[in-house]
Amino acid sequence: MLSRGHVVAIPTETVYGLAASIAHPAAIEAIFSLKGRPHFNPLIVHLACQPDLRFHPMESLSAYIEQPLEGLEQLVQHFWPGPLTLVLPVGTSSMISPLARANLPTAAFRMPLHPIAQRILSQTGPLVAPSANRSGTPSSTCVEHVEADFGPLFPVVDGGRCQSGVESTILMRHEGRWRIGRLGAIAPETFAPLLGYVPEWSALTGKAGVAEAGEAGEAGAIGEIRCPGQLYRHYAPCAKLILGETEYDECHPVVLGFTDRDYIGAKRIFCLSSSDDPVGSLNVLYDVLRELDQQRISSAWIDLRMPETGLWRTLRERLIRAAGC
Ligand code: TXA
Ligand code: MG
Repeated sequence: MLSRGHVVAIPTETVYGLAASIAHPAAIEAIFSLKGRPHFNPLIVHLACQPDLRFHPMESLSAYIEQPLEGLEQLVQHFWPGPLTLVLPVGTSSMISPLARANLPTAAFRMPLHPIAQRILSQTGPLVAPSANRSGTPSSTCVEHVEADFGPLFPVVDGGRCQSGVESTILMRHEGRWRIGRLGAIAPETFAPLLGYVPEWSALTGKAGVAEAGEAGEAGAIGEIRCPGQLYRHYAPCAKLILGETEYDECHPVVLGFTDRDYIGAKRIFCLSSSDDPVGSLNVLYDVLRELDQQRISSAWIDLRMPETGLWRTLRERLIRAAGC
């Protein structure tokens, strides 16, 4: 189906992707309308690893990029296949269509680790694949989520639950350094031994939560080029989420928190994992956010009492974005 120009949802180790071949512009266009995604928000190109080439991921990448960047080969060699996306200069005559890269002179690339994604890619060639959710809602980490968003007849390859359950980490170049464009499944500190520094990520200032999907966001207020997808309300359930940075107060009857904490007076508690387990918490995050909607919860207090290091940063950022702040 992919080779004939259809859109198909496929599993990856992070979240399900809504895939289309880079050779089929109509299918790429269909992704934007299916998701309700604004055209200013570019897609990630997914590449096959080529085991027959005595595994060297740069071989797959070099056909698309303009010039090699400092540290690129080491990053690719160390983290691919895996949940790392790299935003790289491709030039205006790139083989990646301007539609997929939102007319930017860069494109985002990733080589997924999931064996089913890899088998598909080895037969189809490169695929663009945004997360398989309607724009603005939580990503899909299992087939049921994909079907909830796109209907029971939508073509989806069932790979079971995604292993990490949160999107890839995005690195991009800025002023001669690698920077985090999106926090994700790889903690920023993990890059330090390879790069010699922890790539920076700074919380978006401005009104990230105010602009809904489809609007241009407050790019001017932020004053820096980022992943355009980070500019608007995202990962959000319908429920109003209240950010709890201090002690729980029982005036909030519904809590989104951790299994090992007491929320005395709460009527309902939706649990991530335990308060020492960021990996497990990220793994169930989108299930829990979707569950709030299924249970028609109108407002919930989120336990944000967590460290600001490692994968906790990804969890914290997703929760803050889900609250629309
Ligand atoms: O884990 C993942 O990355 C999943 C799976 C399916 O691979 N994909 C995913 O795609 O999360 P999506 O489209 O939901 O998020 C892609 C992000 C967006 O924030 C987009 O703005 C950013 O990547 N992006 C893509 N191309 C870019 C570029 N050339 N420059 C800056 N940001 C870019
Ligand atoms: Mg997404």
